[in-house]
Amino acid sequence: MTDDSKTTVSAVVLPEDPKQESISLNVDKVYTKDELLLHSTDGDIWLAIDGTVYDLTAFSEEHPGGKKILLSVAGTDASKKYRKYHGDNILQRYAKDFKIGTLKIEEVNVSKGFFSRFKKKQ
Ligand code: HEM
Repeated sequence: MTDDSKTTVSAVVLPEDPKQESISLNVDKVYTKDELLLHSTDGDIWLAIDGTVYDLTAFSEEHPGGKKILLSVAGTDASKKYRKYHGDNILQRYAKDFKIGTLKIEEVNVSKGFFSRFKKKQ
């Protein structure tokens, strides 16, 4: 029989993980539509394309399509207009440089019950 009263506890002390910092930085920041809207001026141009938020402030100076058109959709979801002028390959090339986070999926108002649509309007 072994003597259980003399239990030895051993612990492994892990060295600080140098990768830890970059892991936490890689977590997407999530922005609401309202937050996005705050960045819609010359010198502060954010927009969303397909759920990803981009800071195009610096790039707006060298955007081949010009700054004006970026300003016209700044602070909004510009997916439709983006697709009108570019193919997928462009975002693949530039996305990582300008991506700052993702757009929050807003909750849909479902407070009205199914039968409410049959109620008489007063
Ligand atoms: C991450 C965002 C964006 C990036 C990286 C980007 C990049 C580019 C690039 C590289 C070109 C040159 C295309 C080529 O040489 O074929 C271009 C052209 C253009 N872009 Fe953008 N763009 C962005 C967003 C937008 C948005 C949101 C709009 C419109 C609201 C827009 C409108 C245009 C227009 C009108 C042109 C000129 C097209 C032409 O000359 O035929 N861009 N863009």
